[in-house]
Amino acid sequence: MYDVTKIRKDFPILSREVNGKPLVYLDNGASAQKPQVMIDAITQAYSHEYANVHRGLHYLSNLATDKYEKVRGKVQRFLNAQHEDEILFTTGTTEAFNMISYSWAAPRLQAGDEIILSVMEHHANIVPWHFLRERQGVVLKWIETDVNGDLDPQAVIDAIGPKTKMIAITHMSNVLGTVVDVKTICAAARARGVPVVVDGSQSSVHMPVDVQDIGCDFFAITGHKLYGPTGSGALYVRRDRMAEMRPFMGGGDMIRDVSRDVVTYNDAPHKFESGTPGIVQTIGMGVALDYMMDLGMQNIAQHERVIRDYAQKRLSGLNWLNIQGNSATKGAIFSFTLDGAGHPHDISTVVDQKGIAVRAGHHCAQPLMTHLGVTATCRASFGLYNTTEEVDKLVDALELCHDLFS
Ligand SMILES: Cc1ncc(COP(=O)(O)O)c(C=O)c1O
Repeated sequence: MYDVTKIRKDFPILSREVNGKPLVYLDNGASAQKPQVMIDAITQAYSHEYANVHRGLHYLSNLATDKYEKVRGKVQRFLNAQHEDEILFTTGTTEAFNMISYSWAAPRLQAGDEIILSVMEHHANIVPWHFLRERQGVVLKWIETDVNGDLDPQAVIDAIGPKTKMIAITHMSNVLGTVVDVKTICAAARARGVPVVVDGSQSSVHMPVDVQDIGCDFFAITGHKLYGPTGSGALYVRRDRMAEMRPFMGGGDMIRDVSRDVVTYNDAPHKFESGTPGIVQTIGMGVALDYMMDLGMQNIAQHERVIRDYAQKRLSGLNWLNIQGNSATKGAIFSFTLDGAGHPHDISTVVDQKGIAVRAGHHCAQPLMTHLGVTATCRASFGLYNTTEEVDKLVDALELCHDLFS
């Protein structure tokens, strides 16, 4: 049974006050709070088990290496990857997309080749492809969302042409909460030999993910949204694609031998992980993934469906609130503006006075803002510890905003 009251006690920050009110943390889309078990694991690693990995033959180095490397298996289970060596450690999804851009795409794509992406991508899944446009003349082909914020997979498939070399698509929008049918896109793309990069930054937090079932070539996750530390993350790369990648950053650990004239590389996945990695961050991410898997991803998804339905009902009852996106697939992420209210920053400042953390701005999704005809929105994004009572508090605070600004 999913006991949210008990779960909340696992997160020490949730018992603090902000501006004299109990914290209501609704900025999970930006970054999630941390369970004590994860904080303890980091403390333990630094206090009693710390050394550099892969380098020493001494006890602590072996211990740290073992703990660090075990996380690969945890990520493999979390994503249901076929092989453990299909998991690369990263500092987050931003690094993952830059790695794909540099290591897989740059050596292959030529002027006029096309990358298909949706208009609701996060900048992390846009700018690395812009680099290829600027440097190599690659063409970016944008697929629009409909009035509900849905992305028709057929529109993506129809856009595939002889010049299409890659599809980069989000699994779940960080602004609208829309879940994209990436499985259908991947099946069609694979039949045409086009690799698909899936941005799992949001979806992996809210629903079970099975990369084999999705059939993608690349799938990126970011640890700090998964209740883990900042500077941690992982990239799933299917074995055949990893074999096609050139090394990313050069340095220690990623090599086999270096001489004055020649360098040979380590085996994958280490070939793509240079220098001293985020050892403790990665260990912390492993503990956070265990925490989520122990709760059960289906149970988390079910809990958040209840929150989403309740929030949808309450927020849509405010006829001066414009909710962006109304997809039936939507997760518990709500972006909105207020009729007559000033900038979304004003809304977030007022609700902050009630101890409620929401985000205001373009959410690193400016092409989507342009598509929606706004410059910014206010976003309430829910996580595994949020409650329907917190939705009520948000609604009360928004009513106050409406009174103040209208
Ligand atoms: C959909 C999506 N993609 C990518 C990112 C980038 O993640 P990170 O900054 O952890 O690399 C985010 C973070 O907000 C996101 O929401």
